[in-house]
Amino acid sequence: MEHLITKSRLLALLLLLGIAFTGCYNDSEEELYPEIPGSQCDLTSVTYSSTIAPIMATNCNSCHSGASASAGVVTNTYEGLSIIAKNGKLYGSVSHASGYSAMPQGGAMLSNCNLDKIKTWVDAGALNN
Ligand code: HEC
Repeated sequence: MEHLITKSRLLALLLLLGIAFTGCYNDSEEELYPEIPGSQCDLTSVTYSSTIAPIMATNCNSCHSGASASAGVVTNTYEGLSIIAKNGKLYGSVSHASGYSAMPQGGAMLSNCNLDKIKTWVDAGALNN
């Protein structure tokens, strides 16, 4: 009889562990996939190197790097990007604001989360961080 009780306790413990791990899995899913609708966009640790540069690499650098950069706009270096960040053209273009060239040219608008990250970085002074 005692043997049986120990077994069911073990079973209960395993069940609890299972629930605990499922909880952890869901938590990290939100962090790993911030683009899932309804999940949160993390704007607490936006930096040039870890946040903005990768967005530029994916969406802008193919046309805006090197000597033949479109419109003379360079997005693959901090020096180039900080110019359009500070004169308003970066956020104006990606948010498709009137009076700016809508970017990425011929492509889909950036996700709301990426737009918010760019705005956060620009508003904080477009630092080289
Ligand atoms: C497929 C090529 C292409 C991609 C990708 C692209 N651009 Fe452009 N971009 C251009 C061309 C061509 C122009 C010049 C014509 C115009 O203004 O529409 C331009 C113009 C601009 C201008 C306006 C410059 C001015 O003086 O008015 C800005 C700012 C800009 N791009 C930023 C970006 C950003 C930021 C991205 C990424 C989100 C991006 N572009 C992606 C081709 C591209």
